[in-house]
Amino acid sequence: MKINAYAKINATLDICGVREDGFHSLRSVMLPVSLHDEIVIEKSESLSFQCNIKELCTEDNLCLRAARLFFESTGIDGAVAIELEKNIPFPAGLGGGSADAAAVLKGVNTLFDKPLDDTGLLTLASKLGSDVSFCLYGSPALCEGRGELLTPIDGIPELYLVIAIGKSRLSTPAVYRKYDEAGLEARNDSDRLLKAVESRDRDAIVASFGNAFEPVTDLLAPETMELRSRMISLGAQNARLSGSGPSVFGVLKSYEEARICAQQLEGMGYFAISCRTLDKTY
Ligand code: C5P
Repeated sequence: MKINAYAKINATLDICGVREDGFHSLRSVMLPVSLHDEIVIEKSESLSFQCNIKELCTEDNLCLRAARLFFESTGIDGAVAIELEKNIPFPAGLGGGSADAAAVLKGVNTLFDKPLDDTGLLTLASKLGSDVSFCLYGSPALCEGRGELLTPIDGIPELYLVIAIGKSRLSTPAVYRKYDEAGLEARNDSDRLLKAVESRDRDAIVASFGNAFEPVTDLLAPETMELRSRMISLGAQNARLSGSGPSVFGVLKSYEEARICAQQLEGMGYFAISCRTLDKTY
């Protein structure tokens, strides 16, 4: 079977503290977007994994971990062959690996006659990574806890985006560590966004987007700051880091504007694509 694995953006990302397990308590409004990887998954004699990007063909790839976890926890004596066509940039803060893991969980569960219900799948998702639960759920949500506690959000309009990334690389644990060291005042963009959603005010929704990591990533990878200002100069209404970066997304008024913005950023040497937010991926 063929299954798409959709990227996410963090419209907001507020950090609320450090937990006893070392993870951070988050409040983040995540939105699925149309940019996606493609996965083909079939029953097979043995577990295998192929990908168009050779460096991803490792034993600890999230696709393989998701499949192994499914067979271990259901006790099913089976196997699958997984082929991944990677389109989502990585590592980027776009949830690409998490999206692949969620798609494999969904796919393998369907191939083996759905032994797990939605709650069972979400339990496995939370063991694979902080963003996998959201990717499995696949609709706009406020994500709390480590990111796995989801509250659906209704009323965010379809948004036209440009997503871009330069040559900088950022390590997620390092970004969290630097954030802790910086001792910044906590942001609360998520509540501003939720208020704007209640009043159905598109411009206020877009204006509320923010990411607590930006003061840190602006220093670690100045290119991300530069990319945000370039997007604003090219007409974006807001431009933010996604997740812990280094990808950046901008919100444009129309799909055509997003397409032109992506073309211009590509001309400047960035990887850039236009896409849109989705209301439901699965
Ligand atoms: O769960 P995931 O594999 O996406 O997390 C990657 C890293 O990001 C963790 O090892 C941790 O350093 C950091 N993280 C965190 N708090 C979260 C999510 C991620 O500190 N809520």
